[in-house]
Formats: sequence, structure tokens, C-alpha cells
Amino acid sequence: MSIEEKIKLLKRKQKEAKLGGGQKRIDAQHKKGKLTARERLDLLLDEGSFEEFDMFVMHRCRDFGLDKQRVFGDGVVTGYGTIDGRLTFVFSQDFTTFGGSLSEAHAEKVCKIMDMAVKVGAPVIGLNDSGGARIQEGVVSLGGYADIFLRNTLVSGVVPQISVVLGPCAGGAVYSPAITDFIFMVKDTSYMFVTGPNVVKTVTHEEVTFEQLGGPEVHSTKSGVCHFVGENEGETLSLVRKLFGFIPLNNLEDPPEIAFLDPVDRADEELNHIVPDDPAKPYDIKEVIKRVVDNGDFLEVHQNFAQNLVVGFARMAGKPVGIVGNQPAVLAGVLDINSSIKGARFVRFCDAFNIPLMVFEDVPGFLPGTAQEFGGIIKHGAKLLYSFCEATVPKVTVITRKAYGGAYDVMNSKHVRGDINYAWPTAEIAVMGPKGAVEIIFKKEIAESPDAGKATDEKVQEFRERFANPYTAAERGYVDDVIEPRFTRPRLIKALSMLDTKKDLNPPKKHGNIPL
Ligand code: HXC
Repeated sequence: MSIEEKIKLLKRKQKEAKLGGGQKRIDAQHKKGKLTARERLDLLLDEGSFEEFDMFVMHRCRDFGLDKQRVFGDGVVTGYGTIDGRLTFVFSQDFTTFGGSLSEAHAEKVCKIMDMAVKVGAPVIGLNDSGGARIQEGVVSLGGYADIFLRNTLVSGVVPQISVVLGPCAGGAVYSPAITDFIFMVKDTSYMFVTGPNVVKTVTHEEVTFEQLGGPEVHSTKSGVCHFVGENEGETLSLVRKLFGFIPLNNLEDPPEIAFLDPVDRADEELNHIVPDDPAKPYDIKEVIKRVVDNGDFLEVHQNFAQNLVVGFARMAGKPVGIVGNQPAVLAGVLDINSSIKGARFVRFCDAFNIPLMVFEDVPGFLPGTAQEFGGIIKHGAKLLYSFCEATVPKVTVITRKAYGGAYDVMNSKHVRGDINYAWPTAEIAVMGPKGAVEIIFKKEIAESPDAGKATDEKVQEFRERFANPYTAAERGYVDDVIEPRFTRPRLIKALSMLDTKKDLNPPKKHGNIPL
């Protein structure tokens, strides 16, 4: 065969490989409003940057007639490319080939790029569209998934891992994403479940739709499995690119700094008036965040889950920060099970990847009651406490209003190694709110008083004046300064800049035992 003929053969094979499971299945994929594995990579990566591996890999299964159905690539496209010029490894499952299900060979392809990602220190982005372990391969495909789970776990905290769920994903196709750092889903076309509605019906006799069982609405509001939801695949993949811009390529790098125009000394008059005079009245902590960060640009994570705590990424003077804020506009910003889990996971991601933490605190305490206690608020709340305690990245806090009880300690207080802790003059820092405190410590006096209502009001007023302010904490140095709200941005930028070279270490150990 001449070289020309050999090149022709190569091109024919490449063309065949690019067709995956065939034109009919590609058309079916498009009809469902879904893109193919390669079309998705085109949207995710910088144009022309994708370099593919293992295009000609095929499965080795001979059972159930699979020896007659061998497709180049075996249901996954793998390789590397760039996002805004920064390296990332990718795999993109091809639903047109055996429903994107994972065979031994498919798993080997994914493991290959994961191993390489660790060696060169670059993230792994997985585009998942898969029915899970390939049923015909039996235990071999289960082994393949376990190989991936092991890598997901070992890679965790070394390079960022992002999962995008772009179809009906089951079994291993959800457990692998579950170990990764962030999960994206798409409205109307993506689902995540351990197993699908048919099996659910057989086992539990429940009748549920794909959507009800594991649609993006369920996972972004109820279970908290999913961090971001896009309207369509294009929007979802551009959200991935946006997130990518905030995170470093690996745990030894700093997050990417960009040029910025927002002045570092920008004061914001509105911040002086944002906290209502009435301490029972809500306000929106996101408004505070947007007024402080560069250009008001805030990428919220878990936007619809546990909205009483707000977490997300922004930049201060061009450098990424991870923001955690109690949200007084939802459940008065109280900490409960879901918000504690949400916050803890976010804090640990930022700490693992050198992203400074910026905390806005207005929290009346932990949510009391049987539902929370039976659900384990003690251990879940402890997750947030643990994560702030162990974090060694630069950590700054601004107490905007309430910092009561255990929640004061938890929310990056000075005692858990908060580096710079500021309070606004509106801050109230105490063991509990004035009314609750007075009813306990002056119980006897109030009971013996001829007018219990008046006695309570007087004591509440006294307590408020004595404790519901930032100065008792400031006297002790538990807050480093009481600042005028409008200067929050310049003060935080100065603090973060001072902390730029911060080094702190935890005692050597195999690993801690976070309360799970
Ligand atoms: C082999 C599979 C497959 C699988 C789908 N297909 N899942 N082939 N192994 N796991 C094939 C179908 O045969 C079909 O082939 C094509 O993919 C499309 O599937 P459909 O069912 O027609 O599509 P749809 O109606 O959209 O349903 C998608 C689905 C469903 C919800 C994913 O296929 C499904 O429930 N699959 C099984 C899910 C599951 O329970 N997997 C095992 C998980 S166990 P043709 O030739 O018709 O195009 C696991 C263990 C990991 O993963 C360990 C976890 C800890």
C-alpha cells in the first residue's frame, strides 16, 4: 500500500470513528435536544485546541453478540485542550455508542487521561452521558468504574475535577461525578439516579418520571447533588468555562489572576444603609457581596440549594476569592443541616485549591427543633466548623449584623484562625439574641416583677446596649477593627493583599476525620 493509500485509510477510519454509533443515533440525539460528544467538546474548549487520544480503541467483549458490534472509540472521546488558553483534560461520553455505557476499554481511556492530568497538574472535566456500567461486560465493567472511582478519590484535592451531566446518567455515571468537585446539569435533558424509573418501579413500586426521580430541579434544590444548572447544553458548557476561570490548574498553583478595572479604593455609600435599623428585618447579603467584589461579578455555586447560606466565587483586585455569606433574606440566615453541608464542601474546595475565603456573617444561630436534631444537625453543623478550623488559606470575615452563639464561632471567627475579622457598627456579637438571653438569665426577676412585660423590655434594652454591638468583641481583639460599611471593599482588598504570602500548616497526619 502506498503512503497515499495508507493516509486515505487513516482518514476513512477517522471519519468512521467520528460517527460514533452512526448517523441514525446522532439524529436521535439531536432530536432530544442533545449534542454529540464531539460537538460538546467544541463548545467547551478553545477552538482548535482539542487533541484526541485513543480514537481507535474498541471493546474486547464477546458475549451477547457484542463481538459483532465494535465501534471505534468505544463510547467515549478523550484527550486534552484549553479553556482561555489554560490546559485541561477531558472525557466526553458518547450516548450514541451503547448508550455511553462504560466498558473495560472505555474505563481505560478515562483512566489514561486522569493519570496524565495528575502528572502534568491539570484539571479533569468529564462530560457524562451514560447508562453506567456496560451490562454485557458484567464485572469487568464494574471493575472499570472502580478504577475510575479510585482515581477520582486520589485526584481529589490534587487537580480540580468537574462533572457535567448531559443525559440520563445512572450507576457509576453518577457515582464518579459525586466524588468530583462540581456537578453541572442541563434543564430538560439531564438526569442523575442510582438506577432509572423502570427499576425503581420493580423494586419499590414507585411510579416516577425521569424528571421527578433525578432531574436538575430535584438535584439543585432538594438533594444538593448538583451545583449549577444551565438552560441548554451551550449555556451549561459556557458556565463551566466561567467556573474554570476562577480555579487554579492544581493544588500547587495560585488561582488565576486577571487584569481589573474596578478601583481598589472604591467606597460604596449604599453599604452604610443596607442593614435595616430593625434587627428583625431582612436584607439581601448578595447585594452586599456584589457591592464589594470586582465589577459586581459573583458566580454563585448551589444557587437554589440551602439558600440561607450563599457561596460562590468572585475576584478582589483581580484575584479569585471564595465567598461564604449567611443570607438574612432566607430563614433569617440561620444555619441548618443543608446549609452547613453546602458551606463545608465549598470551604474545603477553596482550601484545597489555595483560594482565599471571604466570609460575610449575619447569623442568628443554628436552627433548633426535632427535624434538625433527628437529621443530625450536630454532626452536619460540625462539618462547617471543622472545615473552617482546618482551612489554612487566607481567611477574612466581616460581621455585618448578628453573630450569635455557636454560629459566631463557626463562621470563621478569630478563634478558628480567621486572619482578619472586621465588624460593621451594626454588628451584634453575643451568646444569643437579647430576648432569649434575658428570658434565661433574668427569669426569676421577671417572674417576680409586677409587670413582666415591662421588666423584660427593660432588660432586653439593657442587654442590647451592653452586648448587642461589636465593641465587647473588639475590646478583646476578637474583631480586628470596627469598620464603616462603605469602606468594606478597600479594607478587604488591603487585608487580602497583606495575606498574600500567608503560610500556615496543620499538624502532620494521615488525614483528619471530618464528621460525615
Ligand atoms: C449497555 C446500555 C446501557 C448499559 C443503555 N444502554 N444503558 N447498554 N449497558 N448500562 C444502551 C441501550 O441498550 C440502547 O442501545 C442505548 O444504550 C440507549 O438506551 P435507551 O434505554 O434506549 O435510552 P433511554 O430511554 O434514554 O434510557 C437511558 C437510561 C436507560 C435511563 C440510561 O438506558 C437505563 O436505565 N440504562 C441502565 C441503567 C443502569 O441501571 N445501569 C447499570 C448501572 S450499575 P441501542 O442499541 O438500542 O441504541 C453501575 C455500577 C457502578 O453503573 C457502581 C456504582 C457504585
